[in-house]
Amino acid sequence: MDFSMMPALMRDFLNRGLAISPWLAGVDSTGRLNVDEFARIDSVSRELSNTMWTHEQQVLYYGGLTIPQRIGRTAVYEILASTAVSLAHDQLGQNGVNALMTEQAIEKVVQFIQDHSFGLLVRLYTLATGYENMQAVKFYGSMLEHDFINSSMHRPWVDYSLEDEVLVGIENNFYVRKINTLGQAYLELTPAGLETFKIMENILEETGYLARRIRQLHISRFNVFFDYDRLVEEISPDTHPYRREFLDFVSIQPGMRVLELGCGDGNLTFEAGLAERVGPEGQIIGIDPSIGMLKRAETIRERRHLSFVRFEQGRAEQIPYPDDTFDIVLGTAFLHFTVLEDAIKEMHRVVRPGGIVASGHPNRFDPAEIPFFRDWFSPILSSAASRKEKPRNFLPDAATVIDAFHNTNFRTVEVRDRPFTTYFTDPVKAIHHFIHGVGWFQEELATLPWKARQDLIEELQLRGQRVTKQYPPEDLILRFPSQFIKAIK
Ligand SMILES: C[S@@+](CC[C@H](N)C(=O)[O-])C[C@H]1O[C@@H](n2cnc3c(N)ncnc32)[C@H](O)[C@@H]1O
Repeated sequence: MDFSMMPALMRDFLNRGLAISPWLAGVDSTGRLNVDEFARIDSVSRELSNTMWTHEQQVLYYGGLTIPQRIGRTAVYEILASTAVSLAHDQLGQNGVNALMTEQAIEKVVQFIQDHSFGLLVRLYTLATGYENMQAVKFYGSMLEHDFINSSMHRPWVDYSLEDEVLVGIENNFYVRKINTLGQAYLELTPAGLETFKIMENILEETGYLARRIRQLHISRFNVFFDYDRLVEEISPDTHPYRREFLDFVSIQPGMRVLELGCGDGNLTFEAGLAERVGPEGQIIGIDPSIGMLKRAETIRERRHLSFVRFEQGRAEQIPYPDDTFDIVLGTAFLHFTVLEDAIKEMHRVVRPGGIVASGHPNRFDPAEIPFFRDWFSPILSSAASRKEKPRNFLPDAATVIDAFHNTNFRTVEVRDRPFTTYFTDPVKAIHHFIHGVGWFQEELATLPWKARQDLIEELQLRGQRVTKQYPPEDLILRFPSQFIKAIK
C-alpha cells in the first residue's frame, strides 16, 4: 500500500482543525452528540458517501486491497463528529456540540473533499483507525476476535461491529486468525502487519497527529477542570508563595501594560496579586486556549470589578497581538504545555524593546529517584522501560528552556531555581490532579491502547491507596524542580 502522499495530507488535515477519532478530539467518552446533531451528521455522512464513495475512488485509493463496505460512511461520520466535538471544546469550552459546531465541521470536511478527494479523506481515516487497531493487537501480543469485534479494548466509542475490519485485516494479511486451547479465535499481527503498523506510527508521529491528540486532550481537560485552583492549593500550598515570589522576581511596576499567557482561571492575576501590583493605571490581558478556564476567570474579574483586566482566547505559540505591544509578557505553569521555541519567539515578538518576558514553570525530574513516587508510579515507569526509554513526559529540561531563551535574541536572560513543594498524601486528589487534570504522563499513557490506559490508571489509584498508608506523610513530598526565567528584549 502506498503511503507516500499521507504525511503532507495529514498535515493539511490537522492545519484545518479536522479531527479523526474522539481521542483526537480530546474526549474520553462516547456520549458526545445530542439527537439533533447526531441526525444531521448521520444524514450528511450518508449523503456524501452515497454520492462520492464511488467504485472508481475505491479502486484509485485502495487498489487491490479489500475494504469494508461501510467505511466511506463511517469515515465521514467519525470525522464530522470528532471535528464538531473538537470545535465545541475550542470555541465553547465544553463537550456538548451545538448546531453551529456541526455546520462548521461539515463545511471543513466538504472543503477538504473538494480540495483533495473523498478517497483521500477515507485513507486518512483508515490510517488513524487502522493504527489504533494494530496498536492494541501489538500491545497485547494477540487479541480475542470477539474483543476486537466489539472494540471494547481499543475503540470503545465505536457503536458498530468491527467484524468487517477483522475480515479485511486477515484478507489483506495484516492479521492472522488462530484458535487457542479453549477453542476461542484470536488475532495476531503478521510480519507484514507489523511492518505496516510501523509505517503508520511513523507518519502519525512525524506529522504531529499524536502530539496534537495530546494537546487537545490537555485543553479539553482544562475546560472541564472546575476545581483547578482548589486542588492546586491542596496539593501544593506553596502555590501562592511561589507565584508571589515570581512576581517579585519579575519586578512589576504600577501602570505597566501586561500580557499574561496561560492565565487559566486567573490565579496569578487575582490571588497572587498581579492585578494589585499593576493597578488601574495599567492594563492586564490574560490569554488562554481553554474557554472553560477563561469563563471562570471572567466570573472572578466581574466579582472584583477590575475593568483594567480582560481575558481573551489565545495560545502562546500564536499570540493575537501586534509586535512590541506590551511592557511585560509573563505567565506561570503554562510554558510546559507549549511548543517551547514557538512560544518564546512569540513572547519576544509582542514585548516592546527593553520590555520583560518571564516565566515560572516546572522542569523535568527523574521519578525513579524518589522512593514513594517510584513505588506508586512504577506501572508507568515499566511501561516506558519496556520500550527501553524513560517515561514520556512533556515537562521541559531546565537547560532546554534556558537554551531556547538564549537562542531568541534577548539582551539578557536571568534564571533562578525555585522548586515547589507538592504533597502526595491524598491518593484520589493526586491522581485527579496529575493524571486526569494536568496530565503529566499523557504522552506515556498515549502509547497504550484504550483499555490498557484505563487499567493502568485504575492500578495507579489502588497503588496510591497503599503507598499513602505505607509511607509516613513526610516521605510523600515531592520537591518539584522549577525555574523562574526573566529575559529583556
Ligand atoms: C496549570 S494551568 C496554569 C494556570 C495559571 N497560569 C496558574 O499559574 O495557575 C496551565 C494553563 O495553560 C493553558 N495552556 C495550555 N496550552 C497552552 C498554550 N499552548 N498556550 C498558552 N496556554 C496554554 C491551559 O489551558 C491552562 O489554563
